[in-house]
Amino acid sequence: MTIEDIKTTVQDFKNSAANAVKAGFDGVEIHSSNGYLFQQFFNGTSNHRTDEYGGSIENKARIFFEVLDAIKEVIPQEKIGARFNPSLQGPFGTTMDEETIPTFEYIIKKLNDYNLAYVHLSEPFTDVSAIPYAVTEIAKHFRPLYNGTLMINSAVDQEKGNKVIEEGYADLVAYGKPYISNPDLVERFENNLDLAEWDQSTFYAGGAEGYTDYPKASK
Ligand SMILES: Cc1cc2nc3c(=O)[nH]c(=O)nc-3n(C[C@H](O)[C@H](O)[C@H](O)COP(=O)(O)O)c2cc1C
Repeated sequence: MTIEDIKTTVQDFKNSAANAVKAGFDGVEIHSSNGYLFQQFFNGTSNHRTDEYGGSIENKARIFFEVLDAIKEVIPQEKIGARFNPSLQGPFGTTMDEETIPTFEYIIKKLNDYNLAYVHLSEPFTDVSAIPYAVTEIAKHFRPLYNGTLMINSAVDQEKGNKVIEEGYADLVAYGKPYISNPDLVERFENNLDLAEWDQSTFYAGGAEGYTDYPKASK
């Protein structure tokens, strides 16, 4: 990306956030996770830039904060969340190095200067126990660094979700796959009802099948 591309992208995020709220959404989550654009800037294997967007940790995080600062000009920061996956290894060529976790520590500590709706972190998507640079327990590692509302995701079931809240390592839990196959997930948790299994073969495909056709629990 040229500097001009980056400026255009910052503006695009700002316009999208303003449009989302105008269209009726309560807020936006800046998706800075899972190997997408911002994570490609954060990560040393994908970011080889020699300008102010590469090199130092501060530089690698710059585009994210430019986007955040631009969005907060058009919507209140209390309506903005940000999502990160610090121990991501694999997708889109993202591999961890010695600066990966320090980069996320820098970002997450700096977010204490803001008043965001939440910071949303994913536990590792894969087994990273053999990677020396990885943090295996994300909520435990990052909770002490962030004063605001912390959301945690990835492979959490009802029991693990309750535990992470009780232990104080997160304030909120985000459920993905369980919510796809259980549109009434909260009610099922509340009433200790069985959960429906999701069908992996329908994921990532274009049609409605496997997304909108799971029934609610019969009462
Ligand atoms: C069908 C499907 C689509 C997903 N799409 C995205 C996506 O577009 N971007 C993304 O970052 N994560 C995506 N995810 C990952 C989820 O956001 C979530 O991190 C992951 O499913 C782990 O949480 P879970 O164990 O509660 O499902 C997707 C997951 C599923 C199952």
